[in-house]
Amino acid sequence: MITSAVIAAISDDTDPRLREIMEALVSHLHDFARDVNLNTSEWLEGMNFLVRAGQMSNEKRNEVILVADILGLESVVDALTFGASGDTTESAVLGPFYREGAPMLPDGASIVQDGSQEQTVLVQGVVFDANGKPLAGATLDIWETAPNGLYEQQDPDQPDMNLRGKFATGPDGRYSFIGLRPVEYPIPFDGPAGDLLQLMGRHPYRPGHIHFIVNAPGHKKLITQIFDRDASYLDSDAVFAVKDSLLVDFSPAPKNAATDYIVNYDIELTSADQA
Ligand code: BEZ
Ligand code: FE
Repeated sequence: MITSAVIAAISDDTDPRLREIMEALVSHLHDFARDVNLNTSEWLEGMNFLVRAGQMSNEKRNEVILVADILGLESVVDALTFGASGDTTESAVLGPFYREGAPMLPDGASIVQDGSQEQTVLVQGVVFDANGKPLAGATLDIWETAPNGLYEQQDPDQPDMNLRGKFATGPDGRYSFIGLRPVEYPIPFDGPAGDLLQLMGRHPYRPGHIHFIVNAPGHKKLITQIFDRDASYLDSDAVFAVKDSLLVDFSPAPKNAATDYIVNYDIELTSADQA
């Protein structure tokens, strides 16, 4: 059979993990083609789809990740990578819009650079270790879209690194920053991922969320998102990333407060040796 011939062709000195992955990939791919009785023109359509996704990708847009995301693959990998963290804060997909090099900002600073003044939110909380001890010196890397639903690298009208910032927890484990109440937004749908969504009768929207990457020495890196509990599309996120424990309340701030809303969100990290 072709499947066993392809697997037998993998050389003996292949890295064992690569061998495990390739054997399973070949066997699932062949079974998939047999299951759906895939014909040559359908196969070619699939190949052309992948070529178009690659051609559309550049440093500002990764169409291949978008395709994986709308098929739920990044969420499956996220669950496999971070799933066994017990009672600590749950993870959520990274997505294609993270950028390294966000500015390090003082506690309580605003990540809003373009002067947007409406729907501001103070997000604050404590970063704990898995035993409930506050963690000083943890870093939080934050990013979100502007009210037009675009990340700064998608939008020439936004300043570089708008709505991105890094923060460190103080001696009491506390962090705080000012951002904007996030809006729902469509993932880019003018390419192959969007075509596929349309063919499957699906919408491209994600519910309003703010992304976090939290790092602390001796702890597992946490990649996550918090979701506005009142957001639309919580039940039909285009990339299947919503988890109940990541829903937060945007409470109206007291009169004369610096922001319109306050979110309290504590984070609990997993020890590196529990990973
Ligand atoms: C995001 O939340 O930035 C995102 C995640 C997956 C696909 C597209 C966007
Ligand atoms: Fe996002």
